[in-house]
Amino acid sequence: KKVGIIFGGKSAEHEVSLQSAKNIVEAIDKGKYDVVLIGIDKEGKWHLNDQSSYLLHEENPKLIQLNKSNDTVAIIPGERDNQLIHASNAIQIDQLDAVFPIVHGTLGEDGSLQGMLRLANIPFVGSSVLGSSVCMDKDIAKRLLKAAGINVAKGLVYSKAKKQQISYSYAVEQLSTPIFIKPANQGSSVGVSKVTTEEEFYKGIEEAFQYDHKVILEENIIGREIECSVLGNAAPKASLLGEILPQSEFYSYESKYIDEKGAELAIPADVPKETTERVQEVAIRAFEALACEGLARVDFFITEDEEIYVNEVNTLPGFTKISMYPKLWEVSGLPYKELIHTLIELAIE
Ligand code: DAL
Ligand code: MG
Repeated sequence: KKVGIIFGGKSAEHEVSLQSAKNIVEAIDKGKYDVVLIGIDKEGKWHLNDQSSYLLHEENPKLIQLNKSNDTVAIIPGERDNQLIHASNAIQIDQLDAVFPIVHGTLGEDGSLQGMLRLANIPFVGSSVLGSSVCMDKDIAKRLLKAAGINVAKGLVYSKAKKQQISYSYAVEQLSTPIFIKPANQGSSVGVSKVTTEEEFYKGIEEAFQYDHKVILEENIIGREIECSVLGNAAPKASLLGEILPQSEFYSYESKYIDEKGAELAIPADVPKETTERVQEVAIRAFEALACEGLARVDFFITEDEEIYVNEVNTLPGFTKISMYPKLWEVSGLPYKELIHTLIELAIE
């Protein structure tokens, strides 16, 4: 069977995706599957096999740089760089049996790519259009989680059009300090700030609006940062838990991928069995409430009095060497290679 690996992309997480793809390609049993590389460069051009493999060989094994050259949110009127034309050429040629889209962030993880694969009638790993798009938008995801009775951080939402209505004193009154400022649709903490002063607040808002037309402000939940991997379709399973021990102010892009001593991970997390089971149960409920399929990593805060908050759900979590999703399955008894094959099987089933 032919499995296409789509990687790279125009999003800020381009480089993260290259690292994820590299590991996935290495793990696939080439006797079982023919791997077709489909790389999307930072400009959104699609490249097939040999023309795309150069993307996987970029020399930055440690420092995963942020892609700042993108404008992924806005469709620029008059710009006629049509990704679909590149894409359909790439896909028609190969008649793929399945695709593993490992493009993080906008246009890859937000349902766009998934919609294109559905139109092309190709099975693919992970959530379909609905699950992908609701999880990508932190505002919509939180509303659905709340409706499912799951705790989320208190927040305020502003569109670019309503930007002039944002007031520091109102935000502090509602959310206290520090305040998290996030683009609604981004991954890897790109464009996220944690602020405690009025000056930082307005700077943080400017920064977040560089990445999205919608920004969310959130209260700071004081608690342990815990993650859980979910795998499956109709009967999803939850892994053991992992904990992020950030060495800086928060688990930022820099601490994830750039700083040598950015963050330590405890895998599995030192959490009582009873708490683990409660978190796993919420992880599966969140997965189902947000219409996820195949896989997702659910990120939590757990307060001192054991209240469980879902921070966000990632439908195409990182598969880099330092990424939590595959590591949690490894400690739960599912080695990397088997995990990748299970994901492909779940796509085809
Ligand atoms: N958005 C990154 C890739 C993650 O969630 O791991
Ligand atoms: Mg994320």
